[in-house]
Amino acid sequence: MIEDIIKIAKEAGSIVKKGFGTSFNIEYKSNESNLVTTVDKASEKLITDFIKKNFPTHGILAEEGGETKNTSEYVWVVDPLDGTTNFAHGLPIFSVSIGVQKEGSTIAGVVYDVMNDIVYSAEAGKGSYANGRKLNVNKNDKLSHAVLVTGFPYNIAENPENALEKFTALTKASRAVRRLGSAAIDLCYVARGVFDGFWEVYLHPWDICAGKLIVEEAGGMVTDFNGKQIDIFSKKILATNGKIHDTMIEYLEKY
Ligand code: IPD
Ligand code: CA
Ligand code: CA
Repeated sequence: MIEDIIKIAKEAGSIVKKGFGTSFNIEYKSNESNLVTTVDKASEKLITDFIKKNFPTHGILAEEGGETKNTSEYVWVVDPLDGTTNFAHGLPIFSVSIGVQKEGSTIAGVVYDVMNDIVYSAEAGKGSYANGRKLNVNKNDKLSHAVLVTGFPYNIAENPENALEKFTALTKASRAVRRLGSAAIDLCYVARGVFDGFWEVYLHPWDICAGKLIVEEAGGMVTDFNGKQIDIFSKKILATNGKIHDTMIEYLEKY
């Protein structure tokens, strides 16, 4: 199955790459910060058509098309373009993210970093890979030496739980905090050992399904802000190399 997921993620990535920098149509979703383009929709259609044709009994949870429920124990969780704001503004950091769950636990995940042509993939119990090279989280155990990454919800203006205090506190406590604009890529960079930790609030299942497995299979740790296990519906995610996890929790609980 992983080969199928990689194949369709790369095909969807080609649509996204071809669309980058062209005059695609943009619509607003919940507000003027939350965008969807014709390219998001075309990528999603390609992926969901592939699933319906090749795995007709499987369920689908896809960002732009909602839910296709059925009796199967398998569900594909699809973000056809993670990083739409970057995409729409000409910043070449975005991905296609596809996770497959069986009875509620993720068994396979693929994140395709479109512009760098890197396929991140993981199967439960089999490790994580970037274009076939095995991934490991880094071994840094000092928050003061850590480079972290985060993102903010689209409703940041109205949402009192917007995590800006956490951003301030962790920016002071770490070496640096980055904000790339694709949660799926943020997670893959934790798995690669580039970033030591990632946190964010109010993400959706399609943002984290594949990336969570990729971090865990690379030896990292993924919980909520209290250290509790999460599923893909969690509104709080902390993903780290494991070594700075408890220290980050102290900050996320306090601020
Ligand atoms: C967004 C990205 C971003 C995160 C947002 C997500 P989208 O996904 O992952 O990094 O900060 O919260 O919604 O809308 O580009 O698919
Ligand atoms: Ca997303
Ligand atoms: Ca998206």
